[in-house]
Amino acid sequence: RTVAVILAGGTGTRLGLGIPKQLLKIAGKPIIEHTLAVFEAAPEIDEIIVLMAAGHVPDAERIVANAGFRKVSKVIEGGDTRNDTTRIALDAVGDGDVNILFHDAVRPLVSARIVRECVNALWTYAAVDVAIPSADTIIQVDQDDCITDIPVRASLRRGQTPQAFRSGTIREAYRRAEGDPNFAATDDCGVVLRYLPGTPIKVIDGSDENIKVTHPVDVHLADKLFQLAAAQVPKLSDHRSYTEELAGRTIVVFGG
Ligand code: CTP
Repeated sequence: RTVAVILAGGTGTRLGLGIPKQLLKIAGKPIIEHTLAVFEAAPEIDEIIVLMAAGHVPDAERIVANAGFRKVSKVIEGGDTRNDTTRIALDAVGDGDVNILFHDAVRPLVSARIVRECVNALWTYAAVDVAIPSADTIIQVDQDDCITDIPVRASLRRGQTPQAFRSGTIREAYRRAEGDPNFAATDDCGVVLRYLPGTPIKVIDGSDENIKVTHPVDVHLADKLFQLAAAQVPKLSDHRSYTEELAGRTIVVFGG
């Protein structure tokens, strides 16, 4: 059995809308509805549990009911931090060996391919992360904003979600974390890395589209990406026939 946990317990302070950002409408639907639709349609997913921000459980229930998502078994309140929300989700999943995918509600452009590859990787690995290469150089700084290190970019990735686990592994990692007075918030793979060292965590390829709506610019990006998906606009690589000569140079005309 495979359960998708949709993490929607945050309030979106960086977006600063006054409502949790997962309720913001993009391309005609609340962000969380787009996200749920991907998991509802995925044949690998048997059940969906939604962890919603305090005071907004009825909003999420209404969205689920209106859209007719049959796989959603529970909509419950999340916790104060993302890790607290994960803990509440682990209790809600119940006992028994299951596969659990944790996904940010505010990554509505996750693809069927990513969900499928996460679930498939759980046949071989007990923990799975999704990531993409970093186009930007990542620098490490100190308290004075001076560079202390520039790690080799080729070995760095930007983490996305889902993060997928066999239930025994993620439960044990959180059980150990609970006994640690120095526990610092991290994503769920971080909890496995720290408290179950030696557990291989497989990384599968995410996508540039699988953005986390975090800052205002992301709302515009996500909106545009949904428009492009709906219009089935060809990818840049399909635009070779639109090359033009300009002052002796070949240029590619995008969107031509
Ligand atoms: N999340 C959660 N429970 C929390 C905090 C966050 O389930 N207590 C979820 C968010 O709803 C979101 C995902 O974790 O889907 C990623 O977090 P982030 O982008 O940081 O969301 P917010 O906490 O809502 O945003 P901000 O940090 O700007 O307040």
